[in-house]
Amino acid sequence: MNNNIELCIFDLDGVIVDTAKYHFLAWKKLAKEFGYELTKKQNEKLKGVSRVESLKLILQWAGVHKTEEEQIELARIKNDNYVQLIQTLKPEDIFPGVKNFIFDLKKNGIKCSIGSASKNTKLILRKLKILDLFDYIVDGNMTKYSKPHPEVFLKSSEVLGIKPQNTIVFEDAAKGIEAALAGGMFAIGVGNTEDLPTAHYVISGFTDFSLSRLKETK
Ligand code: BG6
Ligand code: MG
Repeated sequence: MNNNIELCIFDLDGVIVDTAKYHFLAWKKLAKEFGYELTKKQNEKLKGVSRVESLKLILQWAGVHKTEEEQIELARIKNDNYVQLIQTLKPEDIFPGVKNFIFDLKKNGIKCSIGSASKNTKLILRKLKILDLFDYIVDGNMTKYSKPHPEVFLKSSEVLGIKPQNTIVFEDAAKGIEAALAGGMFAIGVGNTEDLPTAHYVISGFTDFSLSRLKETK
């Protein structure tokens, strides 16, 4: 890894907070309504994928046809369910170690941003009371392309004036790792190597992670 780290970009769902489980619950409930049982393995493929594209994939797996209008309505129902599930989110729900790690980075002059496909990003960050922690936030309302396209990460590095090769991305989704690699960034998977085989490095979480550990990463 290039040791000149200037920017760390964090995915939101599944990296900062465990909202990935609520996305799964909401999609599972929706799929059930048209008689389809969504599995955990399939859900891995939805991580990092936009709302509309996730729905299209589920419909494809289920072999169900819906008009564009019906799809808009289904995406709305899923989001309503999801937003209801995340109402109780609170600062204590932030994954252990994440905040201290970000403080450590900032103390050392490293910029931090969010790169998420979620249109609910700001709502979630507000509930977690960390909206002001980041130098920049890119969410699903600001991008044209979904991960694995690198747009969501490149936007941060462009706005903050930092080269992709001096940028590290933290991601729990295989599609997000692909996006970071496509953008020429160092990709750290948050999860396990089985799900994230192409990441440069994988951590299970942030509890035992620090800037000095990051610098030792190869
Ligand atoms: C990503 C999640 O962060 O955001 C996906 O991993 C989700 O599961 C996507 O579909 C879009 O989120 P939202 O909140 O705009 O529906
Ligand atoms: Mg994620």
